[in-house]
Amino acid sequence: MLPDYYKCKKIVITAGPTYEKIDPVRFIGNYSTGKMGYAIAEELAENGAEVHLVSGPVKLEINHPDIKVYHVESAREMYAQCMDLFPTCDIAIMAAAVADYRPEEYHETKVKKNADHMTLQLVRNPDILEAIGQMKKAHQVVVGFALETDNEIENAQQKLLKKNADAIVLNSLNDKGAGFKHSTNKISIILKKGIIFEYPLKDKQDVAKDIITCISQNFK
Ligand code: C5P
Repeated sequence: MLPDYYKCKKIVITAGPTYEKIDPVRFIGNYSTGKMGYAIAEELAENGAEVHLVSGPVKLEINHPDIKVYHVESAREMYAQCMDLFPTCDIAIMAAAVADYRPEEYHETKVKKNADHMTLQLVRNPDILEAIGQMKKAHQVVVGFALETDNEIENAQQKLLKKNADAIVLNSLNDKGAGFKHSTNKISIILKKGIIFEYPLKDKQDVAKDIITCISQNFK
């Protein structure tokens, strides 16, 4: 790690799932625990960064004076908070598992069961990483995550280009102990120009160290 690289840097991180409401008691969500994003936030703060953590609903807590946590629930709330923070940030790390779709309609009262089948109409959520990639200025570094089940490297490389990110952290569901619900993770980091770093299975706190070291060594 480059000494003092993170000192005085302002960093926005997203973490956890998003919940997309169907009615007052139901939502569409996913299994993300937020552990990876929270671990990165803690490592960055330990290294002197000013961290702004935009968190979906998780069971984790942060008690670090240099981490400000913004609790959000839906993708649209996460998007709004990130748009507000990103212009004054040096680095953005998008580790949240954002729902791609939300129910088109929110029911004010609990939906009753009637017919044997029911259809939920869904609409696309804003892509926060893509929006940030488009806003990015030359001095800003944007890091995305990808969770793939097939053609992992190729899909992650396409994501890097499509979303104008500087790096993509790839975790594969094919690797035992990696990704959702685990406290360990196995990642590869993909940079533009086809540079790929591969890492062994590690505790998420150690994976966080690898990620922030890689950023500090490759983006001056
Ligand atoms: O396209 P895909 O969802 O696989 O991309 C994953 C990356 O994009 C992650 O970094 C995730 O946080 C981000 N993302 C986002 N907003 C979305 C969907 C994904 O920021 N609506």
